[in-house]
Amino acid sequence: MSIKNLFSLLLAICVFWLVMAGQAYSAGYNTDSESTGTLPHGGYTTTGNKCKSCHAVHLSEANYRLLRPGTTNAATACEYCHGQTGIVPNKRVWIDANGHGLDAEQTGEIVVPDDTTYTAYGNAEWGCVNCHSPHASNLVVLSEEPLASSQLLRKFPNPNKPTGGAFYDATAGTLTLTQWCSNCHEANYGLHTDAKTTPQGVRYGHDSSRSGYELEGGWVKVAPDDGINKGPTCQQCHTADSAPAGISKGFPHAGGTSWKMLKASSPDGTPTPIEAGKMDKLCASEPCHDTTDLP
Ligand code: HEC
Ligand code: HEC
Ligand code: HEC
Ligand code: HEC
Ligand code: HEC
Repeated sequence: MSIKNLFSLLLAICVFWLVMAGQAYSAGYNTDSESTGTLPHGGYTTTGNKCKSCHAVHLSEANYRLLRPGTTNAATACEYCHGQTGIVPNKRVWIDANGHGLDAEQTGEIVVPDDTTYTAYGNAEWGCVNCHSPHASNLVVLSEEPLASSQLLRKFPNPNKPTGGAFYDATAGTLTLTQWCSNCHEANYGLHTDAKTTPQGVRYGHDSSRSGYELEGGWVKVAPDDGINKGPTCQQCHTADSAPAGISKGFPHAGGTSWKMLKASSPDGTPTPIEAGKMDKLCASEPCHDTTDLP
C-alpha cells in the first residue's frame, strides 16, 4: 500500500468514526447544527432528512408526539429550538400568563374568551401548535399589518370555524392579522353596532378594525355613528410592550408585567404596565381618548 493510499484509508476511518460518534451523541434526532442549518418547517422531499430535527422515530426522549427532550405538551413543543435558551437564538419566543400562556391555576378545559362559538382545548393541547403549523401546512399569508411571510400561521386556527367567520374568510391575500385573530375571538372585531351572538347571548364590542385608528391633532378621530369602522387593530391596544426582554416577539405571545398584553400607557410620560382594575389609564392616554373632548 502506498503512503497516499494509507493516508486515504486513515482519513476514511477518521470520517467514519466522527459520523458514528455524531450519531451516537444525537440519539434519535438530528444534531443541533443539522436542525438549524436547514429550515425544518416544510419543504419536505424524498431526499431530505428534516423529520428527525424534531421527531425521533425510536428512543425519543419525550412522550408527546416523539418530540425533542423536555416536550410534555403543546405549549412546550417548540421549546428546544425557540424557548428562552433555544438553539435558534434569533427567534426565541415564549407564551406567558398575561399573553397566550396559562397560569398555574388554569387546569382542565381552556375556553377561548370572546368567541362566537364555544371553543375549548384540553390543558395539554393548548399552545404554539394551535396557531402555528410546524410542518408549514394549510398556512395563510396575511398581506397587511404587515406580515410579509406566513409566520407559519394556520389559515383557520379555530377548528370550529374551518372556513372562517363573519369577518375572516378564505379570501387569502387581502386578510389582516386582526381579522385572523377574529377566527378565535370573533366577538371583539367590528363596529360597536355589529351584533355578535355569543354563548352568553348577543354582545357588542369596541370597534376593532383591519386598518387601525386615524389621528387628528394628535388624538384618535372619534365619530361613532358614521358607520365606518376606524377603530384600533388588536395590537394597538394589546401591544405586549411590557413583555420580557430577550425574546423576538412579545405580541401575541407574552404580556410580561402588563395585564392581558395591554399597552403600557403613559399619562405622565412614564410607561406603566396595566393592572387589572385600572383600565382608565389605557383608555385616556395619548393617542386614544382626550378626556377634555368627551361629550
Ligand atoms: C419543526 C419541527 C417538526 C418537524 C421538522 C416535523 N414535525 Fe411532525 N410534529 C411537530 C410537532 C410540534 C407536532 C405536534 C403537533 C400537535 O400537537 O398538534 C408534530 C406532530 C406530528 C405528527 C402527529 C400528528 C397528529 O395529528 O397527532 C406526525 C404524524 C408528524 N408530526 C410527522 C412528521 C413527519 C413525517 C415529518 C417529516 C416529513 C415531521 N413530522 C417533521 C414538529 C415537527
Ligand atoms: C429543530 C428546531 C426547531 C423546532 C423544534 C421548531 N423550529 Fe421553528 N424555526 C427553526 C429554524 C431553524 C427557523 C428559521 C430561523 C431563521 O430564519 O433564522 C425557524 C423559524 C420559525 C418561524 C419563523 C418563520 C418565518 O416565516 O419567519 C416560526 C413562526 C417558527 N419557527 C415556529 C415554530 C413553532 C411554532 C414550533 C413548534 C411547533 C417550532 N417553530 C419548532 C427551528 C425549529
Ligand atoms: C394565539 C396565537 C399564537 C400562539 C399561541 C403562538 N403564536 Fe407565535 N406568532 C403568532 C403570530 C400572530 C405571529 C406573528 C406576529 C407578528 O409578526 O406581529 C407569531 C410569530 C412567531 C414567531 C416569529 C417571531 C419572529 O421574530 O419572526 C415565532 C418563532 C413564533 N411565533 C413561535 C411561537 C412559539 C414557539 C409559540 C409557543 C410557545 C407560539 N409562537 C405561540 C401567533 C401565535
Ligand atoms: C386558536 C385560537 C386563538 C387565536 C387565533 C387567537 N387567540 Fe387569543 N386566546 C385564545 C385562548 C384559548 C386564550 C385563553 C388563554 C388563556 O387562558 O391564557 C386567549 C387569550 C387571549 C387574550 C387574553 C390573555 C389573558 O391574559 O387572559 C388576549 C388579549 C388575546 N387572546 C388576544 C389575541 C390576539 C390579539 C390574537 C391575534 C393575534 C389572538 N388572541 C389569536 C385563543 C386564540
Ligand atoms: C380599545 C382597545 C382594545 C382593542 C382594540 C382590543 N382590545 Fe381586547 N381587551 C381590551 C381591554 C381593556 C381588555 C380587558 C377587558 C376587561 O376589562 O375585562 C381586553 C381583553 C381582551 C381579551 C380577554 C377577555 C377575557 O375574558 O379574558 C381578549 C381575548 C381580547 N381582548 C382580544 C382582543 C382581540 C382579538 C382584539 C382585536 C380583534 C382586541 N382584543 C381588540 C382592549 C382592547
